[in-house]
Amino acid sequence: MVEEQALLALDKDLSIANEIPEDLSVRCDRRIIRTVIQNYVNNAIKYTDAGSIRIHADPGDPGWVRFSVRDTGSGFEPEERDRLFGEFGRLKRHEGVKGTGLGLALVKLLVSAYGGQVGADSEGKGKGCTFWVTIPVSARAEGPAQDADPSGSASSGSASRQA
Ligand SMILES: Nc1ncnc2c1ncn2[C@@H]1O[C@H](COP(=O)(O)OP(=O)(O)OP(=O)(O)O)[C@@H](O)[C@H]1O
Ligand SMILES: [Mg+2]
Repeated sequence: MVEEQALLALDKDLSIANEIPEDLSVRCDRRIIRTVIQNYVNNAIKYTDAGSIRIHADPGDPGWVRFSVRDTGSGFEPEERDRLFGEFGRLKRHEGVKGTGLGLALVKLLVSAYGGQVGADSEGKGKGCTFWVTIPVSARAEGPAQDADPSGSASSGSASRQA
């Protein structure tokens, strides 16, 4: 999945690095993580002309992992942040770039079904930004874990949800 998107990035002067550990386990349907990261990376490519995109997984609060996609692109101002995850929350200056304005709203909907959170940070317009999401980590004692799949090649499965 990241590889497919990397091809899109070739059209621009952009490098993509996937720094998600291969053995990371999460308690969430892999298709959801895939959709989330796909949306974030797709946006990062669309709204970044040059520089880099970094995909990370870091420990969050106990029992949670925080995935993030950081870019060196268009960024946003603090007052723009609230609309990004809303339906049709496109920023005016991006009207020339194709999009429905629903990708991030879908991400928020999917992740909130797992009790996770979404968010975005930027130092301002033109200064890049980081979009992040928190996902419950596998509790191995409670059953088979779902492995996070950085390549996005897996497509299976249900998983237990955080209560
Ligand atoms: N990485 C980013 N850098 C700067 N602005 C962004 C970034 N990601 C999203 N945005 C802003 O948030 C808006 C909403 O993003 P969202 O993904 O929901 O819609 P979209 O990309 O316009 O369309 P689509 O539904 O096809 O993904 C974008 O239109 C853009 O203005
Ligand atoms: Mg989008």
